[in-house]
Order: sequence, then C-alpha cells, then structure tokens
Amino acid sequence: MTKIRDFLGPYRLARLIRLGSSCQVWEAIETETGDRYALKVLREDFRSNKQEVSFLRNEYHIAQSMNHPNIIKMYDLVLTGPAPFLVLELFSELNMKQALRRGSESIAYMLGKIIAESIKGLYHMHGHGYVHCDIKPDNFLVSRDGDVKLIDFTISQKVKKGIVKFFAGKTKQIQGTRSYMSPEQIRGLPLDPRSDIYSFGCVMFEMVTGKLPYTGESPNDLLNKHISAPLPSPLVANDNVTAEFAAVIRSAMAKRPDDRPNSMWDLLKVVENTQIFKKAPRIPEKSIFDDFPTSGRIMNQEQAAPESDKEVSGDKKSRGEEED
Ligand SMILES: Nc1ncnc2c1ncn2[C@@H]1O[C@H](COP(=O)(O)OP(=O)(O)OP(=O)(O)O)[C@@H](O)[C@H]1O
Ligand SMILES: [Mg+2]
Repeated sequence: MTKIRDFLGPYRLARLIRLGSSCQVWEAIETETGDRYALKVLREDFRSNKQEVSFLRNEYHIAQSMNHPNIIKMYDLVLTGPAPFLVLELFSELNMKQALRRGSESIAYMLGKIIAESIKGLYHMHGHGYVHCDIKPDNFLVSRDGDVKLIDFTISQKVKKGIVKFFAGKTKQIQGTRSYMSPEQIRGLPLDPRSDIYSFGCVMFEMVTGKLPYTGESPNDLLNKHISAPLPSPLVANDNVTAEFAAVIRSAMAKRPDDRPNSMWDLLKVVENTQIFKKAPRIPEKSIFDDFPTSGRIMNQEQAAPESDKEVSGDKKSRGEEED
C-alpha cells in the first residue's frame, strides 16, 4: 500500500497534529493558495476498511450541511489517491481534554464562555436534526480566547422520528465513549438531542472538577453506573462550585431523558443565569496555550512527533473500544 509522503493531492503536509486510533490529523498547506487546513486522513491499516471509509463519509455529509461559528467547517472529502481524507477548517491546537489534563483550573476563568459556545454549536446541530452521539472533551476544540468548535461527527446520526422511530428497534452495535454515554445510548435505544445533553452534563462535571463523574472496575461496571448509580456531587471534588451549578449538572445528567432540560436552548438559558464558581477563578500566570506549537510552525513528517504517548493513543474510546 502507498505510504503518504509529503503531499496529498494539492496539500503539503506540514505538521502532524494528532495520531488517532484510525485517523491522522495533519496541518496542511494548499500549495497554490498558501491556505492552511486540517486534513483528517485514514491511517494506512484502515484504508481498505469499508466501515472506516463510511465513517468518513458520514462525518463529511453531516458536517458540510452545517454552518455555524461553533462547528468546525467541512470543505471536502477526497476518496481518490493513496489515502481517503477530509479537508477541514484548521482551528487552534487544543482539544478540551488536553486542556483538562493540565488541570481544570487552566480554563476555569473562561468556563462560562466555553460552556455557552459548546451549547450553541450543539443546539445548531440538533436544529439540523442530528444527534452528535460522541460528546466528550476531546471533541471540542478550544482557543486561547475561549472560543469553541465542535468536531468529530464520525458516529453522529439523524434523529429518528414518528413511524421510523417506532420501527427502529434496538441498535446491536453500540457506539460512543463509555465515560460519557447516556443510559439510552448504552441500551441501544433510538436517540434524540437529550442524549447529547446527558453526555454534555458529564463534560460539565469534568470541566468543573477535572474528574469523570463515573469510573468503573470494568467497562460493564462503568456502563451500569450510568444506568443506575446515584450521581456524585461535583462539590466533593471542588467545593468552589456553586450549589446552583451542581444542580444544573444534575438535571443534565438525569437518568430519564424526560427529567433533563428539553433542549440545548433550555440548557443555555439556565447556564447563562447560573454562577458556576463561588469565588471567581484566577487567570493562571502561564497559559496552557503557550505549551503548544503555534499553527504557523512547519515541520516535516519525521520531526512531527506527537506530544506524548498518552495523547497519541490514550483517548480513542469510540465505537465500543476501551477507556483509558
Ligand atoms: N480542524 C481541526 N483543527 C485542529 N485540530 C484538529 C481538527 N480536527 C481535529 N483536530 C485534532 O485531532 C484530534 C482528533 O480529531 P477527531 O476527533 O476528529 O478524530 P478521531 O477519529 O476521534 O481521532 P481519535 O482516534 O484521536 O479520537 C482532535 O481531538 C484535535 O486534537
Ligand atoms: Mg474524536
């Protein structure tokens, strides 16, 4: 099979941003215009895997149908040549998981903005009739100013309605990331936007505490906790969280969809009127954004070493794979 060298079609590969389980994400430069893009390229061992190619197609079709400042722009899907790839808007260097690994206090001072922008992106997606199905910190990109872009529509799906929903039955192959999966997603039931609200509740819990709401001794133990374990209070891990914001998280993470906010819009209205922290968090002296290479730097493929082993392989859990 052909190896990618320095070019893919008209794009020069400048820097490897992430090496995921099935895709590489590159910063690339279109040679003629000099414009920069992010290329999401299927890794060599998956290029003849029909399901992985169909994930790319799904991601392309869903993302290119949306246009919103809090959703990454999708420009192209290229299936000819040595490797199938997507062409996306290039945005920032940090996904929210990378930021949280450096401590939740690193972004706490701009959390209100980050949460509001994340919700707005999701609300737009839901308005187009889609559920994201893989809401987790890794799938939000965050800029130094607290701007957010929702990414990774690999397993997103159209909301089933009416008779289609009635006959949909249970999904056999359950997809998602275990630490953030709603009870109905775990059960393989038809999903609506409230499933993303649950997952976003887990994300808000992690954003204010730096910890996952549930961990398990085994994958099944973790899934069972989403279904039946009482909700831990974020105040145990961070007593600077207000009781009111803890209640917002609790309602988003309600076990029954009917007990959650009805839409991302409803959640946004509540969040905008709720103080997150008792004492305003301080702006850290050293920004975590300084630790990452700027998008202007160009390296060749050999130099483009991933940041650390953990970041390279540590957080791909979708499509039923293991949590780290
Ligand atoms: N448009 C982009 N601009 C900048 N960085 C991006 C972009 N898209 C993705 N990335 C980076 O690449 C990572 C993986 O992208 P994405 O979530 O789309 O792929 P994935 O298939 O889920 O990969 P993984 O196996 O790592 O989970 C993101 O978390 C982010 O760090
Ligand atoms: Mg991802």
